[in-house]
Amino acid sequence: MGVEFLTGKIDLRSDTVTKPTEEMRKAMYEAEVGDDVYGEDPTVLRLEELAAELLGKEAALFVTSGTQGNQAGIATHASTGEEVIVEAQAHVFYYEAAAISVFAGAQVRQIPTDNGIMTPDQIRRAIRSKDVHQPRTALIAVENTHNRAGGTVWPLEDLAAVGELARRSGIPLHMDGARVFNAAAALGVPVRDVVEHVDTVSICLSKGLCAPVGSVLVGPRDFIERARQWRKRMGGGMRQAGVIAAPGIIALTKMVDRLAEDHHNARYLAEQLASMNGITVALDKVQTNIVIADIGNSGIEVPEFVRELAAEGVLASSFGETLVRFVTHHDVSRADIEKAVDAVQRVLHGARVH
Ligand SMILES: Cc1ncc(COP(=O)(O)O)c(C=O)c1O
Repeated sequence: MGVEFLTGKIDLRSDTVTKPTEEMRKAMYEAEVGDDVYGEDPTVLRLEELAAELLGKEAALFVTSGTQGNQAGIATHASTGEEVIVEAQAHVFYYEAAAISVFAGAQVRQIPTDNGIMTPDQIRRAIRSKDVHQPRTALIAVENTHNRAGGTVWPLEDLAAVGELARRSGIPLHMDGARVFNAAAALGVPVRDVVEHVDTVSICLSKGLCAPVGSVLVGPRDFIERARQWRKRMGGGMRQAGVIAAPGIIALTKMVDRLAEDHHNARYLAEQLASMNGITVALDKVQTNIVIADIGNSGIEVPEFVRELAAEGVLASSFGETLVRFVTHHDVSRADIEKAVDAVQRVLHGARVH
């Protein structure tokens, strides 16, 4: 299937499909650059300072992707023979090609939850005791918002409680904050409040914030210096990276405030889908820009549903045996969402119009 297949489609597969804005493209063209492996790219340095400042942490490192941000972070915290506590469907475990085993060399302790949010009690019980039989718990990693749970948001008091437990136990706390700005928008607080109790965070510039490439790993200065070597080891030492850092600066300064619009669109879409025969949506989990629809009662299999919907001009992701995921973002308007709702209705009724 060629890319021409995408022409004219309403693309709700992911917020990663967002294109850089005109302003971003102009900033890329004009970016002042230098060799970032030598620490000489002024635009990268500016992006890193801005990210650290926004998140209320000491330092930051521009990385190629969310996966690299998470994995350079995890490998800096944990190593061979140790254990990392994660939620059972956490992106760092579920979708990063077993990178924790490859880079950190640690094993993963999975905590199952219904909504992506681990309780302090679940984590406390998973922390290993000092015993020759047991690995050392080297890290606790949370995901905010939680992708596979449907973009759910960690309540601030839960993060505070987990942060307190981690500190008391002498275990660092990492946040996969690929969509942490969505969490902040949903909570109506500055992002630094969301990350207050975690030691390190990886944020993505290339999802709802529309930058074409890149993520930023944020944390204490000495940690970031050690993570810099992991980035190099992973092949993420980039040279005149200012051309891709420049749109990242716009992502952080201009694109955050509009995320609430995506959340309103997701809520509207979720309510419309939930009202259709054959589709169920857990509306309480629709907290940000992700909608997971269970089409189990529609009589249509997921691959067929996704195919038929694409034929109607709307792209969504297959997300499990009976689940389809829709993600709202900058490049889809309310009018597009209304068209998407009509398209789903036509697929359900088997009445395609061309
Ligand atoms: C929660 C979460 N973390 C990390 C990532 C990884 O980001 P990337 O695709 O840039 O590696 C994603 C990507 O969708 C994600 O949803």
